[in-house]
Amino acid sequence: MSSVQHAKPGEPLIVVSNRLPYNLPSASGSGTPRRNVGGLVNAVEPALAARGGLWVGWDGSVLPNLAAVDASLAGPRRWVSPEGVEFLGAPLTERELARYYHGFCNAALWPLFHDFIGKVRYLPEEYALYERVNRRMAEVVLAQAGPASRIWVHDFHLMRVPAILRELGFRGLINFFLHIPFPPGEIFRTLPWRDQLLSGLLAADGVAFHHERYRENFVRTAQGLVPLDVVPLGKQIGLVGSTGTSWASVSPIGIDVEDFERLAGDPAVIARSRRIRSAHGERRLLFAADRLDYTKGIRKRFHALERLFDLRPDLVGRADFVTVVVPSRHQVEEYRSLKRDVDREVGRINGERGEDGWLPIHYRYRALDRRELVAHYLAADVALVTPLRDGMNLVASEFVASRVDGDGALVLSEFAGVSDRLPGAMLVNPYDVDGVAAAIAHALDMSESERRGRMAQMRRRVRALTAVSWADDCLSSPGACAEGAA
Ligand code: G6P
Repeated sequence: MSSVQHAKPGEPLIVVSNRLPYNLPSASGSGTPRRNVGGLVNAVEPALAARGGLWVGWDGSVLPNLAAVDASLAGPRRWVSPEGVEFLGAPLTERELARYYHGFCNAALWPLFHDFIGKVRYLPEEYALYERVNRRMAEVVLAQAGPASRIWVHDFHLMRVPAILRELGFRGLINFFLHIPFPPGEIFRTLPWRDQLLSGLLAADGVAFHHERYRENFVRTAQGLVPLDVVPLGKQIGLVGSTGTSWASVSPIGIDVEDFERLAGDPAVIARSRRIRSAHGERRLLFAADRLDYTKGIRKRFHALERLFDLRPDLVGRADFVTVVVPSRHQVEEYRSLKRDVDREVGRINGERGEDGWLPIHYRYRALDRRELVAHYLAADVALVTPLRDGMNLVASEFVASRVDGDGALVLSEFAGVSDRLPGAMLVNPYDVDGVAAAIAHALDMSESERRGRMAQMRRRVRALTAVSWADDCLSSPGACAEGAA
């Protein structure tokens, strides 16, 4: 296996995830690192910048074979971001990219954990490469770890890492955080490698989730598949098995509120938001931003928009929907076909509904940087966050954090993990297109005082939970429990 030679024993906190916030300069083929998107990187980066530590993950480079991977790991792959976070990159082979990342992670685990069982593809060869990449990541981490290190493993790509670390002799604390939902037992049990993944997670001292429902699914599933005693202790649930105790907890993720508020007060961003507004004249502005993903409910939202114009003909020509779709996982067929569907639907709806000088949908297929995103959040009358299923969803919180002016309305799916944290939002069932249309209409009609009241409620909740407080919560309680129980 890979030989790693840049050990720095005693590193206090080592984070490991599949995705790093940047593809390292060598991997992006230039001297400039490329910024990656996604909830995980957006939240973990500020937390790690505040705490200090090392972050290990795939650096975006793809090499032809294992020999090239070994040679690459023997060279220097450390890099420090402008925010002062230190990274250590690990490459993938071409086969691993296809079968571990596009395959097992995104064509089996992603749909399975989001309850899209009909889209799931189980292939033994893809699982074998999942196991292999998990082992490499564990080895790279271990070479950096001292006895006092704590290792914090992130997300569904690396669920075997805690067990492999134990097998390789690591005795320090291991925390695991799942950024997506944990599915109900009947769904999880369809996975041929369910025992391996479960034992992978149970090897961690702490396993944390965004939402009580996900933890409940995990605890019930574990109980059904492994002989365990379940021992509640305060906010934790101890799963006591033959090899030790794993503490399951709930720690909803927060965002870098300060940064969004700072940008929302930046004169250049405010000027940009005014330009966006004036480009849309007197028309009301609806806004959405999502990674291209079938879990995000992008097509259903278009249909709700059509219903809105049917139910409220007075809004025809008087409301614009700006929808930003961020390219994602385009090598997976499911995502390529979604892209075709979204393009077709935008064309169809604009073709059927457009009138002189007016098109209902303004579609951008690209990532916006954070300044541009905040300018759009500020310009919008209503933000539409209507995923069919979402572990948490950070766009909703970012919108609220950006509204330092106290205005703006949010239409939010009840199937986003964040939904019960934002009591001022208009909650909708995203499958009920008439209901979503009615909620958008209500949001547009709302009095200013109702809007401001709801936004004030949401701002209190968003400001109380930051990326840093989330990391503190994740890393304090499960560890403390694990130590207490030892
Ligand atoms: C979700 C996952 C993250 C992932 C992100 C972007 O938020 O929980 O682990 O990084 O999507 O997806 P990608 O496949 O580009 O990493």
